[in-house]
Amino acid sequence: MARVTRTPLIAGNWKMNLDHLQSIAFPQKLHWSLQDARHDYSAVEVAIFPPFTDLRSVQTLVAADKYDLVYGAQDLSAFDSGAYTGEVSGAFLKALEARYVIIGHSERRQYHHETDEEIAAKVAAALRHGLIPVLCVGETADDLEQHGPSAIPVAQLRAALAGTPAGTELVVAYEPVWAIGSGQAATPEQAEQVAAALRAALVELIGQDSADATRILYGGSVKAANIASLMRQPNVDGALVGGASLDVAEFSSIAQFPKHVGT
Ligand code: PGA
Repeated sequence: MARVTRTPLIAGNWKMNLDHLQSIAFPQKLHWSLQDARHDYSAVEVAIFPPFTDLRSVQTLVAADKYDLVYGAQDLSAFDSGAYTGEVSGAFLKALEARYVIIGHSERRQYHHETDEEIAAKVAAALRHGLIPVLCVGETADDLEQHGPSAIPVAQLRAALAGTPAGTELVVAYEPVWAIGSGQAATPEQAEQVAAALRAALVELIGQDSADATRILYGGSVKAANIASLMRQPNVDGALVGGASLDVAEFSSIAQFPKHVGT
């Protein structure tokens, strides 16, 4: 069978960093850096995920200056509107021309006690509003010891996509919790092993064609020095980058991974 080509996605998760003013300077510098490097966005898609309060600034900049950068939000409400103080609806994100939304990041599972049911409801909400979910799954160090590498990420994937119809477009991010912010990324072989298991589960969940088309990102201490070896794995189609996405030169270099020779 011919190998399906999936356009790699390099995604920068800013977490709770950079306010709405900084969110103008940063994408400008990133755009210039990638322009200087003659970045081909059709070969490697580049997305940023700023805090909610930055999204309007980013939208204005990207639209006015016709940047090829795309953007998304770090979370959304499972509900569409109404008495949900502090929540942000998928409809609002769509109105700001967000393309993606991160769902189920381990920091939200951990600090906000998001359950698999809530995450599934958020996936459904994103799809209702035409947003592409970037669904995060990943095991803790304890999980890894007790259940092995792929059991927890696959179980999280199944729970989140239980009601999702075949043909759905989404992105999956495999982020081992022990690798996030630790400086200790998974090895390329570890990332590939779990990504392959996730893709096999996707076949059952959303069908062969959609599973083949789904980009599976790796996240957790990705930097310019380790991106190329991760991207050489057949089932790793990009990266969700936290800390290193806040440094323009480093993030720009990560996005240019096809040029990294011998790393
Ligand atoms: P990190 O974060 O790159 O700083 O490890 C990744 C993430 O949490 O998405």
